[in-house]
Amino acid sequence: MELKNKQILVIGAGIMGAGIVQIAAQSGHSVLLFDQKEGAAEQAIENIKKIFASLIKKEKLTETNAQDTLSRIQTITTINQASQVKLVIEAIIEKLDIKRTLFKELESIVAKDCVLATNTSSISVTAIANGLQNPERLVGMHFFNPVPLMKLVEVVSGLQTSSEVASDIYDLSTHWGKTPVHAKSTPGFIVNRIARPFYAEALALIQEQVSSIQVIDACIKSVGFRMGPFELMDLIGHDTNFAVTSSVFEAFFYDRRFTPSIVQKELVDGGLLGRKSGRGFYDYAEGAITPKLPEFHPSPLNNTRTVIIHGDNHLTAYFSNQLHQLEVPFTQEKESAWLGLEVDGFQLRQTDGQTATSLGSHVAVFDVCLQDQNKTVIAWAIAENSSTEWAQEAPSWLHHLGFKPIRIQDSPALIVARTLAMLINEACDAVTQGVCSKDATNQAMKLGVNYPAGPFEWLDKWRSTQVLQIINQLDLNYKGERYRSSPLLQRLNLL
Ligand code: NAI
Repeated sequence: MELKNKQILVIGAGIMGAGIVQIAAQSGHSVLLFDQKEGAAEQAIENIKKIFASLIKKEKLTETNAQDTLSRIQTITTINQASQVKLVIEAIIEKLDIKRTLFKELESIVAKDCVLATNTSSISVTAIANGLQNPERLVGMHFFNPVPLMKLVEVVSGLQTSSEVASDIYDLSTHWGKTPVHAKSTPGFIVNRIARPFYAEALALIQEQVSSIQVIDACIKSVGFRMGPFELMDLIGHDTNFAVTSSVFEAFFYDRRFTPSIVQKELVDGGLLGRKSGRGFYDYAEGAITPKLPEFHPSPLNNTRTVIIHGDNHLTAYFSNQLHQLEVPFTQEKESAWLGLEVDGFQLRQTDGQTATSLGSHVAVFDVCLQDQNKTVIAWAIAENSSTEWAQEAPSWLHHLGFKPIRIQDSPALIVARTLAMLINEACDAVTQGVCSKDATNQAMKLGVNYPAGPFEWLDKWRSTQVLQIINQLDLNYKGERYRSSPLLQRLNLL
């Protein structure tokens, strides 16, 4: 059924409901708004007026446009007044029994062809539909906060949702200027599930004291993320972030892949919730000092060494270009089993998941870099019993090749490789399980959490063999279920 320009009812006038009302009215719908709390709906409209006033000031909206839009919004005092609507979007409290009761009540008010959508972020759409007379018309319409700015809508189908209803909501979202993606109702849907390792790996690294929060954030940002995991968790709020992780963990029957972190739980228990409480991983008090990244003083370049480039990909092409510019003579072993540089028998290898310690005292490992390398902060590590000369020289080579090297404790897959491999692995699992397509995954992660690229776009740049190797090394190292490789990643590796 065509939903464009039809009358809509939004239930729940909180942060999400108000945003949904705004964009629906701006797209030309007549919108009814109901909230059980007295005055909440009116307050939401006041807030929309304030947003419009600021948009008018910035000349992004005309006065007439704002008035027209506001004239299409009407508050109601009982949902019985909404019998004619063709779509209901529910954005009330996140409680299964309350949502179920509301939808059952709605079925006795609206017509049979009225679509029922829920903005739930964590409850099974299948479960919300349980007990409805027409469960096929209930669908998830998962917006992201702030609704007017965030482009993504996850259109979530429960077991009984009809494909027609899901496709109507998909089309409507497009009409509203959003980018919808289809998802199957599974814990965390797409974004909240695939993003878990972004936080989990950073928290594990800090728990193992591999490096500092500043260094981990800097390394992750060096591959294009707008915020590092600690900055982002502080922004989201540790209570919220921990609750989402815990709910996904529980919903997957305590699959250890999703185990929450005691580091984060301590922060929650201590009320150190992030920006909103003034302190989380970082201190937001006025005048608080953020520690600087460690400085590295490189040794001068020694171009009398025997230098060999190992491997053949975009990184070694970059190395060879840089060495030419530095006038360092070198040879290349394109068929080598590892990627990096050999200098007089000492190795500087891009991590494949093995620790430097396990490779030997003549080896230093450095992290994966997918961006334009120049001036990229990059983590590197070396065995504790390595020679002091190589411990100074290895990062000096990284420096001369155009990186900003930062030493971290030796650990499998360092920082970026570990995080990206786990994000890719989780995305592969979601696709394996039919939760979403590869394209939907890429779109969802770029638009829902501002990732610089989608997991399958990273995979295109990075060979699946390398990703699988990293996951397998993590698995070997930690021996648990958390780092088990996805069947899809294994299959891609065989192609
Ligand atoms: P909120 O707490 O800001 O607003 C909820 C509103 O619903 C309140 O005004 C409350 O009075 C009203 N309400 C509660 N029970 C009601 C009922 N039975 N009938 C009518 N009104 C009722 O919550 P928020 O953040 O807007 O979230 C709403 C829904 O959207 C939840 O399901 C949440 O999980 C989901 N969501 C939230 C996101 C967020 O970032 N806040 C993102 C995506 C989804």
